[in-house]
Amino acid sequence: MKKNITAHGLSFEPFISEAEINTRVEALSSQIRQQYEGKQPLFIVVLNGAFVFAADLIRACDIACEVTFVRLASYEGTASTGKVATVLGLDFDVKNRHLIVVEDIVDSGRTLYHFMGELKKKEPASISLVALLLKPDALQFSVKIDYLGFEIPNKFVVGYGLDYNGLCRNLPSIYQLKDR
Ligand code: IMP
Ligand code: MG
Repeated sequence: MKKNITAHGLSFEPFISEAEINTRVEALSSQIRQQYEGKQPLFIVVLNGAFVFAADLIRACDIACEVTFVRLASYEGTASTGKVATVLGLDFDVKNRHLIVVEDIVDSGRTLYHFMGELKKKEPASISLVALLLKPDALQFSVKIDYLGFEIPNKFVVGYGLDYNGLCRNLPSIYQLKDR
């Protein structure tokens, strides 16, 4: 059993293991493969948090595809700030393309609610959303997740791409904030 970790003075305990993550990533990627084989989808990876998940997922999919990145910032510390800013925009013509948005976690849903709305205006052939994690109890905006890794309680998590003020993205598994 892995030990607790600390970041910026907060304590986190092991929550989802590497093996559990791998199993879910394999399952999601095989669903995506079945759905998108021959369609040459464009994966749109939401930076920064989704970079680890996306790297594993997209390689496991094993289909002809393209990959691009956007950066939408709405988060500071351990609570959503309520603002959504496009820091790094879309550099692809997405009209008539099959789009798969890849996100690490849907919390309030604010970031994706706005972003998916913007994407739909660009007349893609289809859009789907894959998210590793969802906190159903935190959801305030209606966001449809087509491929979901895990539903988790409304507690802050880090690791596997997810950070706490910049730290912990490189942890291979997911940790949850300990109750104090
Ligand atoms: P939302 O717009 O409230 O859904 O926030 C989504 C973004 O906030 C995610 O893409 C993450 O980058 C970040 N976020 C939400 N919850 C957590 C968490 O528990 N740990 C780390 N980052 C989180
Ligand atoms: Mg994110």
